[in-house]
Amino acid sequence: MVRPKVILDVDTGHDDAAAIMMAGRSDALDLAAITVVSGNQSLDKTLRNTLNVCSELGIDAPIYAGMDRPLIEAPRHAPRIHGESGLDGPVFGPCSCVAESAHAVDFLIKAARSAQAGTYTLVPTGPLTNVAMALRLAPDLAGRLAGIVLMGGSAGRGNVTPSAEFNILADPEAAAIVFSSGARVTMIGLDVTTTLVLDDERLARYRSLPSRAARLFGASMERYMAACRAYLGEFPAMHDPACVAYVSDPEAFGVAECRVDVELSGSLTRGRTVVDLAGVTRKAPNARVALTVDAARFWAMLESALRRYPD
Ligand code: BDR
Ligand code: CA
Repeated sequence: MVRPKVILDVDTGHDDAAAIMMAGRSDALDLAAITVVSGNQSLDKTLRNTLNVCSELGIDAPIYAGMDRPLIEAPRHAPRIHGESGLDGPVFGPCSCVAESAHAVDFLIKAARSAQAGTYTLVPTGPLTNVAMALRLAPDLAGRLAGIVLMGGSAGRGNVTPSAEFNILADPEAAAIVFSSGARVTMIGLDVTTTLVLDDERLARYRSLPSRAARLFGASMERYMAACRAYLGEFPAMHDPACVAYVSDPEAFGVAECRVDVELSGSLTRGRTVVDLAGVTRKAPNARVALTVDAARFWAMLESALRRYPD
């Protein structure tokens, strides 16, 4: 079987780091490159975190820095959850990775255009600024990508406002561009990611595995768990790794083809992904929305990903 070639587009905080771990040594997909965007923290910090994670784990995918702010609004970060560094918790040694000189948006366009159509699956796990810029500069990308499997949005509740999820609220205009681009979009939103909740017992088991990724996972998730419990009153959800799990094993998810539009103007609902589950708008579907996930299959994938790294 040909493994899908994946480009991760990250704003590396704790769960983005876990997504990189899952993709870095996967036998189900080939991690071709990583692009970085401002989100959980400023771009310099999310880039540093990405370089550190890849250096620590020996992941040699090229890394490209992208947009340092949303299309229109001022940047919105998440320091309460991810800390001042964007990845508080782990202590990294000297970093052996450096970013490529090309801009992430230029790279995305060049990569998609220079390969056969359908080669790359783009997996954004942060605000959609890089992806929207690439689609605006090169609308043909929509048809050249195998798909866009994004972490963001919700058919139900939000996690920053009652309506909006962080990645969409951080750049709603970019999200609107992506959903209306004509690309094959799969939305992995809070409807499924909040069912993938890490508890103390599982964290203790994973962090004791003889693997450097398991140790990094343990150090970062301990901090993430403390923040999620303190500020959200919840155990932490594995938002971003769920996208990697979807690309690796789509059958583990239940999806519905729906029309998704992004609320841009509501004073209470800006950033909401309005998911037409009942088909009442009669608009053609523009996304596959994940509504269920087989949690046992997800955890098995995550554990075997962590085990693939040396001690
Ligand atoms: C999303 O927001 C970020 O803080 C996480 O990394 C994840 O991508 C969840 O709403
Ligand atoms: Ca993220």
